[in-house]
Amino acid sequence: MKLLCLLLLLLTFLLAHETGADEILGGKEARRHSRPYMAFLDIKLCNDLFSCGGFLIRNDFVMTAAHCVGDFISVRLGAHNINKREETWQIINVTKQFPHPEYNAERLLNDIMLLKLEKKAKQTTAVRPIPLPSTSNSVLPGKECIIAGWGGTKLKSSGSDTLQEAEVRVTNPIYCKNFTCFDERSLLCVGTPKSIKTTFSGDSGGPLVCSGVAHGIVSYGNNKYPPSVFTKIAHYSSWINQILNAN
Ligand SMILES: *[C@@H]1O[C@H](CO)[C@@H](O)[C@H](O)[C@H]1NC(C)=O
Ligand SMILES: *[C@@H]1O[C@H](CO)[C@@H](O)[C@H](O)[C@H]1NC(C)=O
Repeated sequence: MKLLCLLLLLLTFLLAHETGADEILGGKEARRHSRPYMAFLDIKLCNDLFSCGGFLIRNDFVMTAAHCVGDFISVRLGAHNINKREETWQIINVTKQFPHPEYNAERLLNDIMLLKLEKKAKQTTAVRPIPLPSTSNSVLPGKECIIAGWGGTKLKSSGSDTLQEAEVRVTNPIYCKNFTCFDERSLLCVGTPKSIKTTFSGDSGGPLVCSGVAHGIVSYGNNKYPPSVFTKIAHYSSWINQILNAN
């Protein structure tokens, strides 16, 4: 009995702490290549294979969540259906992973990572970087944004073949106070429990796009319903610029 409780506790802990964000519910299939910055990451960690979302921010750099770190990552750009090879695909290996130096896996803070690509992606109609917000110019509660992803994560292998997207609203940080380590300076609270219709979660590491700018990175949630927690990209501008300038 004791052992069972312990196992259940462990399972609950794992489920709560594994990236909560799995799939887009209430979303729809994105128009083919309408989000040319989207990246699908194939990640190898020990003997485990999993995937994350990400987004191209420079011809040779992809941004994602730090919890997507692996021993080896390859990036697929220009994809719509990830299970059917498309002419538009560009598959590029990552040569260097830059998780944020203060990434904290227990508190899920500073969940941001930059990936340097082995070679520059070729810009096409299906592959193009997305702009980032300028320093401290973040989105405010009430803003309607878009999330997109294929929904494949460690927890669920049953994602979607095609890119899905959903509209979500940035909400008051009060809605995220149930997440014990929520810090509104570095995180965005997205969706309210009432907004089930436009619920999602989005792939871990995928972008929150507001007016054509990537403002957030899907970090975690409670797995079932909103709100979810996103890394606030604007908070990390100086770290991002430092890495980009030095590499
Ligand atoms: C990427 O890395 C894998 C594994 O090391 C390797 O098999 C593959 O050839 C590499 N791809 C390119 C384009 O270098
Ligand atoms: C926080 O959790 C409590 C207890 O589970 C719940 O009743 C409440 O609705 C939650 N608040 C928010 C803002 O999600």
